[in-house]
Amino acid sequence: MKIYIKTYGCQMNERDSEAVGALFTASGHTLTDNENSADVLLFNTCSVRDAAERKAKGKIGYMKKLKLRRPELIIGVMGCMAQRLGEQLLAELPHLDFVLGTGQIHQAVDAVEKIAAERKRFSNTIEAPEEIDMLGAHGSNSWSAQIAITRGCNRFCSYCIVPYVRGREMSRSLDSIMDEAKMLVDSGVKELLLLGQNVAAYGLNGDIRPPASGYSPFAELLEALNELPGLERIRYTSPYVSYFNDRLIAALAKCSKVCHNIHLPLQSGSDRILKAMNRQYTADSYREKVAQLREAIPDLTFSTDVIVGFPGEEESDFLLTRELMEEVGFEQAFIFKYSPRPGAKSALLANTVSEEEKLRRNNILLDDLERRIGKRIAGLVGSEQEILCEGVSARNSARWTGRTGTNFVVHFEPDTTVKPGDIRKVKVTRAGSVSLFGELI
Ligand code: SAH
Ligand code: SF4
Ligand code: F3S
Repeated sequence: MKIYIKTYGCQMNERDSEAVGALFTASGHTLTDNENSADVLLFNTCSVRDAAERKAKGKIGYMKKLKLRRPELIIGVMGCMAQRLGEQLLAELPHLDFVLGTGQIHQAVDAVEKIAAERKRFSNTIEAPEEIDMLGAHGSNSWSAQIAITRGCNRFCSYCIVPYVRGREMSRSLDSIMDEAKMLVDSGVKELLLLGQNVAAYGLNGDIRPPASGYSPFAELLEALNELPGLERIRYTSPYVSYFNDRLIAALAKCSKVCHNIHLPLQSGSDRILKAMNRQYTADSYREKVAQLREAIPDLTFSTDVIVGFPGEEESDFLLTRELMEEVGFEQAFIFKYSPRPGAKSALLANTVSEEEKLRRNNILLDDLERRIGKRIAGLVGSEQEILCEGVSARNSARWTGRTGTNFVVHFEPDTTVKPGDIRKVKVTRAGSVSLFGELI
């Protein structure tokens, strides 16, 4: 059968879709990008904000017309929204055949084959984290690959649905990750992206207390990966700020393959709001961690996630966030308008900030960011940078793009020898608004 998989949400979901796709091809099916000619449509969904669910539901609803034309078409929903709504989705969407929760996606091939044989609709949202560990399958060879090192989340930030839809936090064994990494590097992968809701909690058995000084299984994992011959770069997302202890910071500074860029979600710069969010740090402790990290790794860049309009967020709280963002000088930031998630604790609080006000705060932070990135990027003109070459630029086919370890995108004219995944040096000749232009050296 021809299988079409559409993914919503985060990189973990992309990774899951890739693994599910690989399970289908291993079972003799083929993958397609064309929803009109597919025999099976799978939607791997996200629940993190209401908009994410509405988007997926809109798309799945629209597929009804395909099913009317071709009743044999199989439509399945997987992932976080599937986990959250389960049977309710079958009721809401009569043309849907099956729902598979986040602990059941490894059953996708069986689910499709069962529907094809029996035509009996079903929903399965049983949590089975140990089975999910088997999802190490990868798609076609590329120079970059993602590895899920932890699954689930135990932190229960008050706004967040992830702990409810992804279940309890578990870490894979070091051996299983290393085997997957070796297999990928042997197939030509140069860059690994380690994924988890809180990657730095790797190996802590779901304990939500950050590890004591001198101990960090995540650091041990990075050190082991750093030794893999053939691997050029290691990235990871997302860590929680409190887990950067002396042991981890020392490993980051020492491991030459670990990129000098950290996605470090801040959420808010107001202690009052951080507390209400159940984030276990203060604005000052965040500042201190950034300072310690910068001291150990001077060219480190930071990106972050921020939520505007959390219940009770006053203008004064928002201004604290704005100030802290300016002070840290994030090179990238993702700003989200607070969205109450039924089931998460904060959904019980009155949603006090109007949508217009959320949008205003959102736009102010985005304007700040644009100005800051512009300045930061202009400051890199004339410098030499080491980039990992990614391939032909999406905007201009005469150019290629590459990325610095600090996560700046550089456009350049390729020479005849350059291949995707190569590490090359460039001289930065000019700055665009968000990216750089350079010449191969
Ligand atoms: N595990 C990651 C975050 C995953 S969700 C971490 O803790 O780093 C990605 C981002 O979505 C979060 O960092 C947060 O900024 C945002 N987010 C989560 N729930 C939200 C909600 N209810 N409304 C708006 N944004 C939300
Ligand atoms: Fe959500 Fe917090 Fe867990 Fe991140 S750490 S997934 S924001 S509960
Ligand atoms: Fe969304 Fe689930 Fe990821 S809720 S952000 S797809 S873990």
